[in-house]
Amino acid sequence: MAPLDTPATQLVDFNQQSLFVSAASVAFNPLFWNIVARQEYHNKILTKLFSGRSQVACYGLAATIFLLGLLRDFLYERSLRDQPSYPLLESNEIKYLAYALLISGNVLVLSSTWALGITGTFLGDYFGILMDEMVTGFPFNVTDAPMYYGSTCSFLGTALLYGKPAGILLTAWVFVVYKVALAFENPFTARIYAKREQERAAAKGDNKKSR
Ligand SMILES: *[C@@H]1O[C@H](CO)[C@@H](O)[C@H](O)[C@H]1NC(C)=O
Repeated sequence: MAPLDTPATQLVDFNQQSLFVSAASVAFNPLFWNIVARQEYHNKILTKLFSGRSQVACYGLAATIFLLGLLRDFLYERSLRDQPSYPLLESNEIKYLAYALLISGNVLVLSSTWALGITGTFLGDYFGILMDEMVTGFPFNVTDAPMYYGSTCSFLGTALLYGKPAGILLTAWVFVVYKVALAFENPFTARIYAKREQERAAAKGDNKKSR
């Protein structure tokens, strides 16, 4: 009698360590940048490390986050190679869907970086580098978090391109991790900007008094 879980019928091979390495790196990245960025906000650790130059410190963090992203993508692709393919995912229609997801994912990520600039994209507000005004044009009129949803689209596109159910599972994990990250980041960013608005309003008040 054949066991039910022969590799041929298995959707996801949980015996592959690379699957968990990839899942860990997906979770590690936002954990890393949130911990470091909050340390910067409260204690200026990165600005001190770069002798008071917060702009340079932010670029340093941006480069680190970018490299961690490349490592995460590398670990993801490597983990998919260890996983079984699913015949139904190997049709042409799925391939076209995969390309559409990869293209829209990259458009969202790149256009968002273009609209926000490097410091706007990579946590500049934690360094005291605030945007003058909220960016409301594309891609922010399509989604509130184009970076995160674009990246999620790219993960799904890659999973479908390789025809790997394990990739779809990892994409679901990416989605959950980013949802948690957004729930953690959005209120904090909102408070940073609210504080600036208060300071602006106070400064205006002072101007009136001195006149
Ligand atoms: C978003 O804004 C761009 C211009 O920045 C515009 O061309 C596009 O039609 C808008 N999309 C939606 C869905 O409103």
